[in-house]
Amino acid sequence: MSVRNIITLPDEKILRQVSKPVSSVDAHARAVFDDMLETMYDAPGIGLAAIQIGVAQRLLVVDLSKEGEPKKPLFVANPEIIWASDDISDYEEGCLSIPDFYEMVDRPKEIKMRYLDRHGEAMELHAGGLMATCLQHEIDHLNGVLFIDHISKLKRDRVVKKFLKADKLGKL
Ligand code: NI
Repeated sequence: MSVRNIITLPDEKILRQVSKPVSSVDAHARAVFDDMLETMYDAPGIGLAAIQIGVAQRLLVVDLSKEGEPKKPLFVANPEIIWASDDISDYEEGCLSIPDFYEMVDRPKEIKMRYLDRHGEAMELHAGGLMATCLQHEIDHLNGVLFIDHISKLKRDRVVKKFLKADKLGKL
């Protein structure tokens, strides 16, 4: 296991890629899962998609356990949202690929998701609350979508510009 570099804005070229399904959850996929989990805990964050460490495969990890509680990692391969509630909830979201930026995002309050677990078993999960939000955020990553795509264009342009500017300054 190793902590990998997290790709951040303005590097949209990688973050905007659509990730490919894994043919099976094999030793290679499990090694990616392990690196993702270690990278996420190190950051720290509550969710991470493989594309955020530059791997364009439909893999994500989530852990909503609080500090001091036993870890509860969820390993998800090839997720598919099979149902979403009409009820909407909003959470202030952030993203390890967009450091230090937080904004309210509306999403379905509950979802049902089909996926493969760490052992390649077909699973179904009914999630609500923060788990539903987090899973939708991570699944977006697999489709090249960032949470800033769900906010106003004005706010999005502002944050993208900020990261472009910071990147240029860093290279002087
Ligand atoms: Ni994110």
